Amino acid sequence: MSNNGQKDILKVAMPKGRIYKQASKLFREAGLPIPSDFDDTRKLIIELPDMNMEFIMAKPVDVPTYVEYGVADIGIVGKDVLMEENKDVYELLDLGIAKCRMSVIGMPDWKPTIHPRVATKYPNVASAYFREQGQQVEVIKLNGSIELAPLIGLADRIVDMVETGQTLRENGLVEQASIFEITSRLIANRVSYRMKNERIQNLCDMLQATIAAGAH
Ligand code: PRP
Repeated sequence: MSNNGQKDILKVAMPKGRIYKQASKLFREAGLPIPSDFDDTRKLIIELPDMNMEFIMAKPVDVPTYVEYGVADIGIVGKDVLMEENKDVYELLDLGIAKCRMSVIGMPDWKPTIHPRVATKYPNVASAYFREQGQQVEVIKLNGSIELAPLIGLADRIVDMVETGQTLRENGLVEQASIFEITSRLIANRVSYRMKNERIQNLCDMLQATIAAGAH
């Protein structure tokens, strides 16, 4: 491929795991022939020469970082990560996939305590929420299995994603408040959005039409 061709490759930061399957399905429905053999791949860079595209398979939380630094032109990321990471990127489109919500969760018999502690993977989101509520809490950062925290006495509440509610039910926890709804978003690097505007805008329009048609 010529240098010119290389320059025109659209680099897309894709979240590995459960969002990828929904995102690649949406791309396919929008007319982009993404082979389904990549749904379970361990490959980190997927070349799609027919579309002059490349997928960078990223840990979801890192997608905005790749896009902010411009090593990916665009990316797909959950609103939860966007709110927490607060990176300098354009949010172009709500893809309407991977729907869930960010919630405050506790034991059914939760009562306010003098030194409340909240465990979460989202310390910025949690701190901002409790500040707005006028509640002073100590926020403890964890990296997964957040629901353990109230069960073993690390924190009296958690801030976490709820999708089906199964994790809460199986661990005897209840939702106290919903903070915001989450879906995946299409984001773009600010420079790429100017330099590759037509390609990015075309892709955006195709996805938007598919979402509007309710096909996904
Ligand atoms: C996420 C989230 C909840 C769970 C919610 O965890 O943190 O624990 O999914 O889904 P549900 O309402 O359908 O049960 P994830 O599976 O990403 O793993 P983690 O606990 O290691 O973060």
